[in-house]
Amino acid sequence: MAGFALNKRKAGWWKEAVFYQIYPKSFQDTDGDGFGDLKGIISRLDYLEELGIDGIWLSPVFQSPQADNGYDISDYCAIDPMFGTMQDMQELIDQAKRRGISIIMDLVLNHSSDEHRWFREALKSRDNPYHDYYVWRDGEENCPPNDMKAVFGGSAWTYVPHLGQYYFHQFLDKQPDLNWENENLRQELYKAIRFWVDKGVEGFRLDVIDQIAKEPDQKITANGPRLHEFLRELSREAFGEEGIVTVGETWSADVPRAQVFSAPDGSELSMVFQFEHICLDQQAGGEKWDIAPLSLPKLKDCFCRWQQGLHGQGWNSLFMDNHDLPRIVSRWGDDGKYRVQSAKMLATMLHGMQGTPYIYQGEELGMTNIRLKLEEYVDPEIHNMYAERTQRGMDPHDVMQSIWARGRDNARTPMQWSDEPYAGFSNGKPWLPVNENYRQINARQELGDPDSVFRYYQKLIRLRKTYPVFRDGDFTLLCPEDERIFAYIRSTQDQKLLVVCNFTDREVAFEIPDAFAHAKQILGNYPDAGDGLRPYEAKMLLWEE
Ligand code: GLC
Repeated sequence: MAGFALNKRKAGWWKEAVFYQIYPKSFQDTDGDGFGDLKGIISRLDYLEELGIDGIWLSPVFQSPQADNGYDISDYCAIDPMFGTMQDMQELIDQAKRRGISIIMDLVLNHSSDEHRWFREALKSRDNPYHDYYVWRDGEENCPPNDMKAVFGGSAWTYVPHLGQYYFHQFLDKQPDLNWENENLRQELYKAIRFWVDKGVEGFRLDVIDQIAKEPDQKITANGPRLHEFLRELSREAFGEEGIVTVGETWSADVPRAQVFSAPDGSELSMVFQFEHICLDQQAGGEKWDIAPLSLPKLKDCFCRWQQGLHGQGWNSLFMDNHDLPRIVSRWGDDGKYRVQSAKMLATMLHGMQGTPYIYQGEELGMTNIRLKLEEYVDPEIHNMYAERTQRGMDPHDVMQSIWARGRDNARTPMQWSDEPYAGFSNGKPWLPVNENYRQINARQELGDPDSVFRYYQKLIRLRKTYPVFRDGDFTLLCPEDERIFAYIRSTQDQKLLVVCNFTDREVAFEIPDAFAHAKQILGNYPDAGDGLRPYEAKMLLWEE
């Protein structure tokens, strides 16, 4: 079951597509060094074809010192040797295309690595032509231009004594921000994009793209005054032609902003990742580490606003998991007794909506969070946060609880392929521990089980391609105040889809709306039809004119 194998994608093809995110470091290792590689991805293309996806969003494989797992690029046109060679990359693009799968690369255009040639040049002197590719302010040691903080902790300013200047970095000090005001810089970035398009890459995920037009003197990071101007130029000059899909990572997006980012005229991006739903289970005014219970009515209200707000006026991306987020089954489902049911229920809730779904590696297996000792974690964000919070006097045990629930390494543990040593991910010791539950939760087992989470995702993908209501239908939320059930209807002129999900581990009564009295059930996560909704039960009913 493949996507549509075309040499060139049609405009808007991504509205019917399902994407799959690969975190290359953790997907499949072939040379035993404990890090996944491009050859590993090639060796798993049959698996992805079987799942039925149309495109792979590949987290960064560019040359990088890996201070932030590749989100610190030191050459935009080179492959990091850890992942393989340019030839491997070309082979991946070609082999994927043969299976109807497009490759979407992950571009980090907000910042580069401090080991990029441009930054090395920039450090040489204030009048070096590359100096202005970055964001500098004059100053004296220990007296940064302002109190802005970096996302991963500490000041957003780092001092360079021999220049008498600070450079600005929203993330690590090894990730200096690029200065988009500089026209030459922008042209260099567009050139790099064309380099990959010429190789057959069919889309790009754009890392923290709403932060490129920063104005640090006004403490503006996201949605700077020139953002839309920059995005339109980027779209015109770099992505120009039809058929290239772009998805921007925009933590700041609300519905009105997303209508502009993903406007149907294609002047900016195809779609954005927005994070409103993802931030609902955190305390008001707190950070992601400050956990709060999820309110189902709030979740429903959020999805409803996005579904209705972008219907005909933009395009949604649909996701619950990625390489920065904890595993959804551990987060909003039940990763114990009802792991399989709740993983399927969450998938039903999301994949019934309008937009382009993104599945994160292992989500299709119902992979879960992991609990490690502090020293076993690799993500610098975790270590910086631990130091900061314990120094502030927080109880180390509470801080560990937050890491177990929210740490990014939850998503980055090696892919669980089989019950062989290291879960079939590698012959050598993996860079991050494998989750011990790999003996029960792994791809080989799930491929052999018709009722597995994998087989359920496969069905969902097929359904999206069978019934136009998935792509086109409008969205009506049912029982908005109900604390246990998430139910909605999608409608077009001649098809209606009812999606019903029980978010609890108890049986709940639910009355099927009259309009669906004679509808057929096209999907369900229990083998038989029941009256009420059993724990984490989910179903889809279709009515056709
Ligand atoms: C994005 C990426 C994340 C990275 C950060 C800085 O949020 O998804 O992994 O650390 O940008 O590039």
